Amino acid sequence: MPKGKESIQRVRTLLLKTLQDGEFHSGEHLATTFELSRSAISNHVKALCELGLEIFSVKGRGYKLANPIELLSHSQIGDYLCASNKNKTSLIQVENIVTSTNDIVKAQMLEIESGFCCLAEAQSAGRGRRGRTWVSPYASSLYFSMLWRFSSGYQAMAGLSLMIGVIVNDTLLELGVGQCQLKWPNDIYFNNRKLAGILIEVEGQVGASASAIIGIGLNIRLPNDVKGIDQAFTDLHTISQQLIGRNKFAAKLIENLWEALPLFENEGMKPFISRWQQADLYNNKEIKLLSGKNVTVGIGRGIDETGALLLEIDRKIQAFHGGEISVRPA
Ligand code: BTN
Repeated sequence: MPKGKESIQRVRTLLLKTLQDGEFHSGEHLATTFELSRSAISNHVKALCELGLEIFSVKGRGYKLANPIELLSHSQIGDYLCASNKNKTSLIQVENIVTSTNDIVKAQMLEIESGFCCLAEAQSAGRGRRGRTWVSPYASSLYFSMLWRFSSGYQAMAGLSLMIGVIVNDTLLELGVGQCQLKWPNDIYFNNRKLAGILIEVEGQVGASASAIIGIGLNIRLPNDVKGIDQAFTDLHTISQQLIGRNKFAAKLIENLWEALPLFENEGMKPFISRWQQADLYNNKEIKLLSGKNVTVGIGRGIDETGALLLEIDRKIQAFHGGEISVRPA
């Protein structure tokens, strides 16, 4: 068997395809199937564990994934698209390990159309807002980025990240996950724990057309021993106690975004405001807004049409465009 990097990757993907059922597979059987020695199989399994996968190795029984997974599949995502979108599968790219799906979209910006998106099994340099790292273990989350061009410039993007939060929430509801909450400006929470985050990177100049790279990270089933997440978090498996198919979720999310983004481009945040308010995590709650060294305390009163956070301070409503919410300690 050739030893190139690509072929190593191919063997590991095939190995995972075998293990994804969550059953035991003996080292001997795997060695025969892949025409490799048993120690080569053991090394590939070790490498998969280093990517964040939990694989048990039990003497006499073989290898077994601690939790069954569903690998991303371009054809399965295509199968889940509705009939009117079946001809749009060329707008969907599925990758194995990338630095960041936002990088992959950005690198192709000159050649791709609005609505093009990329999904990956893992990110080696996933990023979150405010320079944070987005921990991205293999096959345990959705790492997703979509390009959208705004012909009238970046002013038309006001509130974009809030609208994306609404669409992620709608998709979760559509797939039977319970009611999630939205934390201004762009986090999705369940039971006060973060389930998903949104990172929008803008390319373009004032006055000219501009493009948004919309990055979404949604925890599906994180490994039990996941490290490096510095805030309370949850995943879909914990919430719903079932394996949520990433391919189905991806297809529904992509279709919902394809439908919502043209509406947002024409009408802005208006058609989405009431859905955002319904899921507002901090509506009528006392919160602190941190912005640099400034701390503003007020009562959350939803958002306006520009996506600004409304806070009631001394009985007056004030709008805030930047900052991060922290809950006021009791
Ligand atoms: C945040 O809450 O801080 C935003 C997290 C955004 C993570 C996603 S995962 C897909 C895309 N690629 C990245 O590197 N980041 C976003």
